[in-house]
Amino acid sequence: MKTVLIIFGTRPEAIKMCPLVRELKTHREFQTLVAVTGQHREMLTEVLKVFSLTPEFDLDVMKPGQTLLALNGALLFRIGELLETLRPDLVLVHGDTATAFAAATAAFFCGIPIGHVEAGLRSGNIHAPFPEEYNRSAISLISTLDFAPTEVAKETLLAMGKPCARVFVTGNTVVDALHFTRDLRGRIPLTEDAEGKHIVFLTSHRRENLGDAQRSIFRAAVRIADALPDVRIICPLHRNPQVRTAAREIFCARKHPHIFLTEPFDVVTCHHVLSQSTLVLTDSGGIQEEASALGVPLLVLRDTTERPEIVRAGAARLVGTDEDTVTAEACRILSDERYRKSFEKSTALYGDGKASVRIAEKISEFLANQMLFLDKPIEKCYNKVKSCGNA
Ligand code: UD1
Ligand code: UDP
Repeated sequence: MKTVLIIFGTRPEAIKMCPLVRELKTHREFQTLVAVTGQHREMLTEVLKVFSLTPEFDLDVMKPGQTLLALNGALLFRIGELLETLRPDLVLVHGDTATAFAAATAAFFCGIPIGHVEAGLRSGNIHAPFPEEYNRSAISLISTLDFAPTEVAKETLLAMGKPCARVFVTGNTVVDALHFTRDLRGRIPLTEDAEGKHIVFLTSHRRENLGDAQRSIFRAAVRIADALPDVRIICPLHRNPQVRTAAREIFCARKHPHIFLTEPFDVVTCHHVLSQSTLVLTDSGGIQEEASALGVPLLVLRDTTERPEIVRAGAARLVGTDEDTVTAEACRILSDERYRKSFEKSTALYGDGKASVRIAEKISEFLANQMLFLDKPIEKCYNKVKSCGNA
């Protein structure tokens, strides 16, 4: 029997891959195994619990304060060992994390085909997000199957010469995850206490924002809370110690009664709070997609985004990290109802919640006809790129 090995290691990968694992496990014609790298620990375990998933392998690589070099080295080595023993027929990775990059690279070195979920996202700036823009571009060079969440992502892959017969627009599995958690959401005291107030959901963890940019974001949050008494800012802190140091410095200097710092939410709570929010301020990738799917106005705390669809649709603005700009734009959205309404477009940019079903079907087809896929001369496919449609 053919084997698919799914490899992930961080919170957002887990949230977007668990729905797919559940779907793949319903396919009895092949075997689905899961290896978590443990790039994240507590934040990963939390997601696995929600989706009732017990991975077959746990490589447990996380070290406190891990550097990119040490992390990538450990990942490549440990995943390589696993692949050499297991020899799966397909390795599935997600997005652009160190885990995804190392898993794809190890599979490539072992001659194992790679399926890339959430393929084709690009900011166009190799340094932002860092190192994710490099990771996802490198994976695209060696992947066999590309599951693009949107047409924009598909076009990006075709433009780099990927064979159109192996690029599939599926929607984003983040919407599948939102559907999954919707049925589990319950009462949350934090949002009940904020009834009748505007909830602002704030997160920041991007590597290129760590330090001064993040302090600037947090100072903006204090100014927003000062300016608008009917606003409650909820900020679950990433476990990265650098994020916590900056938050402690700004928020503990003067404890604000309307700013609530919390430990990371479990994903069910997180989706619930997001759905109750008036405004989302974030540099997170996944939260951009979720805000868009939930129709919540969004300010992206970055200079570039690989998710231009949301900005083009008018549901988000790219505001960067400047304290004055973030404060002014957030205050305008919160106090000017007409302006706010112009953001409130519940969008289906990321699909209908059936991305996992589509991806699993393509994987099943691939495993049944693997030689057909692999024998197709790549040059021939490249020649067809310009003439192929979007079907
Ligand atoms: C990683 C991804 C990033 C993704 C983010 C999601 C890379 C290069 N970056 O960045 O694309 O947006 O995850 O959150 O892969 N830590 C804990 N406990 C945890 C999780 C993290 O203590 O459960 C600590 C780690 O020890 C580390 C720090 O947080 O010191 C950062 O984690 P790391 O995985 O290196 O990078 P992220 O910034 O989380
Ligand atoms: N998330 C969560 N708890 C939190 C904050 C975020 O479960 O306290 C979820 C969120 O709903 C989204 C994902 O984590 O699905 C985003 O992860 P993160 O921002 O860490 O990474 P990114 O998406 O930027 O790679």
